[in-house]
Amino acid sequence: MIPKSFIQDLLNRLDIVDVIERYLPLKKAGANYVACCPFHTEKSPSFTVSQTKQFYHCFGCGAHGTAIGFVMEHTGMGFVEAVEELAKSIGVTVPQEASNIPQHKVAPDLYDLMQSATRYYREQLKKTPRAIDYLKRRGMSGEVAARFGIGYAPDDWQNLKDAVPNYQDASLVETGLVIAGEEGKRYDRFRDRIMFPIVNVRGQVIGFGGRVLDKGEPKYLNSPETPLFEKGHELYGLFQAQKAIRAHQRVVVVEGYMDVVALAQHGVEYAVATLGTATTPYHVQKLLRLCDQIVFCFDGDKPGQKAAWRALENALPQLQDGKRLGFLFLPEEHDPDTYIREFGTEAFEHELDNSLALSGYLLRELTAEVDLGTQEGRSALLKNAQPLLTAITAPTTALLLRKEVAALAGVTQAELEALWAIKSIAAPQRAAPPKARRAAPSGGLRILLRCLVMKPELARELPNDLHSDGAEAAAIAALADWLHESADETTTAAMIQHFQGTLHEPVFATAQGEVMQWGEEFDVDAEFAGMLRKMRREAVESEMSALQAKGLAMDASERARHDELREELKQLKTQAS
Ligand code: UTP
Ligand code: MN
Repeated sequence: MIPKSFIQDLLNRLDIVDVIERYLPLKKAGANYVACCPFHTEKSPSFTVSQTKQFYHCFGCGAHGTAIGFVMEHTGMGFVEAVEELAKSIGVTVPQEASNIPQHKVAPDLYDLMQSATRYYREQLKKTPRAIDYLKRRGMSGEVAARFGIGYAPDDWQNLKDAVPNYQDASLVETGLVIAGEEGKRYDRFRDRIMFPIVNVRGQVIGFGGRVLDKGEPKYLNSPETPLFEKGHELYGLFQAQKAIRAHQRVVVVEGYMDVVALAQHGVEYAVATLGTATTPYHVQKLLRLCDQIVFCFDGDKPGQKAAWRALENALPQLQDGKRLGFLFLPEEHDPDTYIREFGTEAFEHELDNSLALSGYLLRELTAEVDLGTQEGRSALLKNAQPLLTAITAPTTALLLRKEVAALAGVTQAELEALWAIKSIAAPQRAAPPKARRAAPSGGLRILLRCLVMKPELARELPNDLHSDGAEAAAIAALADWLHESADETTTAAMIQHFQGTLHEPVFATAQGEVMQWGEEFDVDAEFAGMLRKMRREAVESEMSALQAKGLAMDASERARHDELREELKQLKTQAS
């Protein structure tokens, strides 16, 4: 494992402007640097880099991160690889830390081993009529089999002895191709299976899925997570589909290896599959950088329905206005493979064109569970909708859905927003720092977050409880916890890197974008302290008025509390002036 302190140190020593300029030219614009975003197509530059804060943010597509994140995103490298690359660029070596989970350096020869195995399995397929017959029965042409590098692992324990120079080499176990049993006995993981190589976006084989030819368990055996292969990040078929995805500005996400291959066979070349895992936010983000439309097309059965809902939940924080996510529900007995073989390409593409939009699917499911004819039903609708709708950061999408849910529940949009404590905050203005103290009171947490992005160690000064719920409060609490655990000084970049890929990432990303537009010429400490005082004052005032409402019914302890609060309020008022 790479020690956390090393990541922080590395980020301190790199300059994100230098790093990004190795890949694309940047232009100075005010306090920041800008370029046309490398992650989506655009004509005027909205990709912005802050040199002082060491992070980038694209106002067009929402891409964001540190120097490490940029290299990962731009080259398709994994985290460890990107860190090694960047360390090398400034002439330092990456230290290793002992850990329970063995994480190894990605030696280039692991890729070579995978390549040798792929070649070997492909040769074996050519020599095995039984395997060829199986693929033919499933309608696969030789051309498509070659496009996906499909092969066959023979029914022996140590096939790969013929494929690699040294079967005893430890790296064979590291790739997951070979299993080390008891007493030093080794054997191949994949035996008597059709082999589907899993390829990363750079075209390197990083894992395999192996299907039984006849009946047998498990139907598909997959490579384990290895230094090369991280399941939640990879999509089967993406390497082959990339060009078609860009050309059609559309991608279809399916469940199975065979679905991807069968769709390609029928001319739908823009399909990818998740690898036996749910669709992750990372998947959605990655695909939205390539194109404007994702259609999820899972099997018509129960697990397929469940997978669709999981995909929806994980997609919400990644939604972008102007991009379309759709869901195609096939008849129950079908998956994309059987559907396109039975009804043909035109019918399948027609279904894609008419897929149910994410908003329609969301509303359908939300209203299916409740009886809108009753008050209880409408109240349940509001309760169920809240976590889903508040996860959406795309402004127009969020607004339209809120309006619709409010109408269904028979409340006004304003009532719904008050109920969910949605902060409406005016967009920050470029250059001129807004007067935070005069901002809407409900925007307090957003202002705090922006200050924390500017200067994370301010989180040490937060009170133990902000007495707030919601995504912003949760992110702030997580930041405070993280700082609590580490004694070191920290930086914005280290903080961003730490929360990358966590639930809090979207909240911080929004704040980063706001900070980028906020300008730097103002006193963060004063802004932060002022906002805390203001929030405290509001809390004190509301507790006081609750007590005052009791009037004469206040008991002795409540009276004492009231006096205490009045005293605190007096002090807060003098501090503010
Ligand atoms: P399905 O069971 O729907 O299979 O699994 P399929 O894709 O229709 O395959 P065929 O048509 O019978 O050949 C969907 C996906 O779930 C994962 C695989 O990624 C598979 O493609 N899976 C399924 C496993 O990882 N292991 C299994 O045992 C089964
Ligand atoms: Mn199938």
